Amino acid sequence: MAAETPPQSLVVLTGAGISAESGLATFRGPDGLWEGHRIETICTPEALAADRALVLDFYDQRRRALATVAPNAAHAALARLEACWPGPFLLVTQNVDDLHARAGSRQLIHMHGALRSALCEGCETRQPWTGDLADAPACPACGAARLRPDIVFFGEMPYHMAEIEAALEGADLFVSIGTSGAVYPAAGFVRLAAAAGAATLELNLEASAGSAWFEETRLGPATQLVPAWVEAMLASR
Ligand code: APR
Repeated sequence: MAAETPPQSLVVLTGAGISAESGLATFRGPDGLWEGHRIETICTPEALAADRALVLDFYDQRRRALATVAPNAAHAALARLEACWPGPFLLVTQNVDDLHARAGSRQLIHMHGALRSALCEGCETRQPWTGDLADAPACPACGAARLRPDIVFFGEMPYHMAEIEAALEGADLFVSIGTSGAVYPAAGFVRLAAAAGAATLELNLEASAGSAWFEETRLGPATQLVPAWVEAMLASR
């Protein structure tokens, strides 16, 4: 199968679906995080300006939830693939949890930021952050401005786009895992990779908004699909 022919360069994109079986809610769907909120009241720069306490509390609750969850078999399989893969490998995640890093992934880009990081609105210094931001002190670097979640809000530019696009242009295989394909620019990565000549594979619980763009889609839970795909990849090297 084309998707299991050993490629030299591999780019993997993950979304909330890969962390669902660890116990973290996805964004869309009946129990999704956005179900009880309008995105524009939580996840925009305007929302932070309008109701800072509401936005900080939303992300403080999600940061606290990280202490209660652990990486699952899908996160572990991707870390194993990176460790064993002979060619270039890049894992791009839209997730703001830290489960990929805790599973051992290192060639990892958090394109939408990270819950366990705080960003100073004044000097733009970042620092590791595990407590609540609702009662955060002034920025230790500049002393004046306020700390906000280091999360890319709607209307803000995702992180490390130049590095991601360069990897997509050189990819032999692009694999998307657990994402609805509803949010750009990540939803467009499959087309960038395909235009550059990569094979494309989607692993998701259900058909997504982007399924039509992939050469192959496999449906099922990430903890089953991802370890099976990784083992097939490593066996075919
Ligand atoms: N295994 C695989 N896929 C799953 C699983 C699972 N166990 N559970 C759910 N999914 C799939 C869903 O079917 C859905 O297609 O994961 C996808 C999750 O979609 P979203 O909730 O939209 O999450 P995501 O695609 O990561 O969202 C993208 O939107 O709100 C913003 O910034 C936020 O990074 C996020 C971005």
